[in-house]
Amino acid sequence: MLNQQLAKLLQTVLQKLNYPTENVEVIVSNRKDLCDYQYDGAFKLAKILHKSPLEIGSEIVTVLNNLPESSDLFQKVELLPPGFLNFTLSDSFINQILNQMKNEEKYHIKFPNKKKIIIDYGGPNIAKPLHVGHLRSAIVGESIKRMLKYAGNEVISDVHLGDYGLQIGEVIYGLQEKEIPIDKITLKDLEEIYPNISERCKKDEDLKEKCALITKQLQENNPEYHAYFEKIKEISGNDILRIYEYLDVSFDLWKGESDAYPFITKLTKILEEKHLLEESEGAKIISVEKETDKKALPPLIYQKSNGAYLYGTTDLATIYERMEKYHPDEIIYVTDYRQKMHFDAVFRVCEKIGYTKTTIFEHLGFGTVNGRDGKPFKTRSGTSPKLDTLFAEVKESFLNSSDKNKEMSEKDLDIIVNAIIKFADLQNNYEKDYIFDISKFASVVGKTGPYILYTYLRIESILKNETIPTKDLNKSIYEECDRKLRLKLLELEQTLLYAVENKSPSVLANYIYDLCVNMNAFYEKNHINKLEEKEKKENWLILLSFSNKVIKDMIDLLGIKIPERM
Ligand code: ARG
Repeated sequence: MLNQQLAKLLQTVLQKLNYPTENVEVIVSNRKDLCDYQYDGAFKLAKILHKSPLEIGSEIVTVLNNLPESSDLFQKVELLPPGFLNFTLSDSFINQILNQMKNEEKYHIKFPNKKKIIIDYGGPNIAKPLHVGHLRSAIVGESIKRMLKYAGNEVISDVHLGDYGLQIGEVIYGLQEKEIPIDKITLKDLEEIYPNISERCKKDEDLKEKCALITKQLQENNPEYHAYFEKIKEISGNDILRIYEYLDVSFDLWKGESDAYPFITKLTKILEEKHLLEESEGAKIISVEKETDKKALPPLIYQKSNGAYLYGTTDLATIYERMEKYHPDEIIYVTDYRQKMHFDAVFRVCEKIGYTKTTIFEHLGFGTVNGRDGKPFKTRSGTSPKLDTLFAEVKESFLNSSDKNKEMSEKDLDIIVNAIIKFADLQNNYEKDYIFDISKFASVVGKTGPYILYTYLRIESILKNETIPTKDLNKSIYEECDRKLRLKLLELEQTLLYAVENKSPSVLANYIYDLCVNMNAFYEKNHINKLEEKEKKENWLILLSFSNKVIKDMIDLLGIKIPERM
């Protein structure tokens, strides 16, 4: 990695000076008008060595300039008072790295330790409408999955449907109440029944008890309820699948809470052997608190006094199955951050069982999507925004933003809707809440999905009429925008390594945006089609086609596709 290569060089220098060589860090410049990369370590060394940073800096510069490789790497090395070291890379070195990136697989990026990772995301509940939180889990999870795969890990994704909770009992009750025979159930029935019964259950304890009993009997394999369950799952599952297909989100495992039930007996045996189950008011619980806890963590309820199992139980039984079958190095969950306590408790039980000796468990909790008013996002039409309604509103907003958009094909429009929603989400650190402002995110100007796609297509339309030379870039850089663009491309390696290591799509999304800004600035200044100088034109064609390849590959990691036209 470039910044590590520079850091190593500095270590050589420090060694020659007999100075400490630990924690040497060279970073991308935060004053790009002054230099490309910088080293601020002289300040720390000054404290240890009792010398001024300026003095140390100047010693470093002298030794560095005498190293034979320096003349290849740097155009200049400058010491800026009170002690900053500023590096400007040589044009030939920049191009040498770009050629390497261009010619080698995955941009010559070497990803470390390949692992087997299970990623649990999406997590919709059957028979209940999907909401914006599930959308976020799908978008963030899909992107993390793609990044981890790109980095060479073996990744297994699981949708982990919520399919055995109270809502199923409620819906079965409602279907029976309306005397709808199993083979006549429709999606519309489910959409109507669930909100109706769930509202009534809030006011009517008896009814709630009845539904809970149905759920429990279903969990115990009551054949009549099971038949309902199968049908509900089929109908609702197909609709969920339709939405994921629209979002280009896919899973290796299409499993749910119900699939964990067969493993509960074996898991219970382990828990009993390890004396982890306790009785509490007829229920079985597992205490998970630690002495060091600042805030008390309540016990995980394993089995209710009526015999029913809960959310924590199914997550644990699912882990049991995953551990037996896959022996993963990591299991990651992408859900709303409000589930933190749940996962803390589940992971502590895993620790007690001994699973954490071989496997890392991680909960990536995301923030809420808010509307312009700062409150949880709602579509214009409803309280609980159905995802189809959201997609339609986004599409409409894009169509209305320009007459030209009305000529686009349906397929391209769907790609754009995806880009709008995904880029709006993924540019934010997922841990934070963000405001989803449809008209802002649907615009082709600003930090938006359409802006990225527009940049790409604009460059494509230039390249289309030209023959792209298949050779390497020469040693030259022709002007300032050109140089900036090349330096931005150089940052790809460290950006992607960081994004993968920290499971942070936002780092990648922001990089892609910056790259597009550089590409647009370059293009606006240099109308490449009209260029007379052959060598320069050839090199710029190579550069632009390479930049566009980077965009295409990187937006794919965000789950964003490219339309034919826009
Ligand atoms: N169905 C859950 C919900 O809607 C999310 C499931 C998350 N995954 C898990 N393994 N618990 O809140």
